[in-house]
Amino acid sequence: MKPSSASAQANPNIAFIKYWGNQSQELRIPVNGSISMNMAGLETVTSVIFDDAISGDTLSINGKMVEGKGLERVSSILEIGRRAAGIHSYAQVMSTNNFPTGAGIASSAAAFAALAKATVSALGLPWDEPAISRLARMGSGSASRSVPGGFVEWYVGESDESSYAETIAPAEHWALADCVAIVSASHKKTGSTEGHALAPTSPLQGARVADTPRRLELCRNAIRARDMRALAEVIELDSNIMHAVMMTSSPALFYWQPETLAVMAAVREWREDGLLAGYTIDAGANVHVICEQTSAAEVQTRLRNVPGVQRVLMSSAGGGAKLV
Ligand code: PMV
Repeated sequence: MKPSSASAQANPNIAFIKYWGNQSQELRIPVNGSISMNMAGLETVTSVIFDDAISGDTLSINGKMVEGKGLERVSSILEIGRRAAGIHSYAQVMSTNNFPTGAGIASSAAAFAALAKATVSALGLPWDEPAISRLARMGSGSASRSVPGGFVEWYVGESDESSYAETIAPAEHWALADCVAIVSASHKKTGSTEGHALAPTSPLQGARVADTPRRLELCRNAIRARDMRALAEVIELDSNIMHAVMMTSSPALFYWQPETLAVMAAVREWREDGLLAGYTIDAGANVHVICEQTSAAEVQTRLRNVPGVQRVLMSSAGGGAKLV
């Protein structure tokens, strides 16, 4: 095979309704559907070069060579592509992020969405968006949601074929902002892959999953109607429920820091005073504060004044994975 290559760019996404726990850990088929918004301005660019002359896959992230588990995870995505294309060449993968890795901003979502998009293109596979979303899902579940653009729903599905994500509203539909209050830039102790496996050990997981269709509906309706108060209420409820599951699994997972709780309390207070914003927190200590663009400058200023907030990253609704 002649050397063939492609580069793709993808954004991370912030889940409004969270994915936590798998039906199939291996295929990353979730136990519940989820909804997210892509985060414009934060980007991963990944280049994939298939080349007969190399004797194994290689991976570099921000210029540093990565081996072990990180490389294996990338190789497993390349391998699915190789099998589909009927080739055996290894690939060089180079990825760069313009945002901090492992700080509660899902860098793996942007990384695997960009990897899937670039791999499919480099191999010339005639795959549509759902197929690329499914490939991204194999690397990191939430990456399935960074393939389509704007506001996205990942359908739970019951098989590899039916578990993919799709746009439910384009980015232009609603000028929302995600103001990320960084309270800790350190690596999370328990990554989400291990975390998903622990979800069924919580006695609260069954109740969380059973109630998810209701929360998904509330969230879809809030997005459709551009209803910020309804969105704020449902994202906070959903984030609180997921963290309740995390805190009650065995072993228990506590991602919040005292500063996380301070931001949560502040956001609720601001809402009572009329500044419409809502918080949501992934598997980390940082707090994503969602509001309309018109309130973003005010939210950012207030967040900077909450003790313990180191910096505030700003983002808006972004597009899907694309070739660059
Ligand atoms: O895609 P993963 O395996 O990194 O899991 C993501 C889990 C959460 O960020 C906590 C929730 C979500 O839906 O993004």
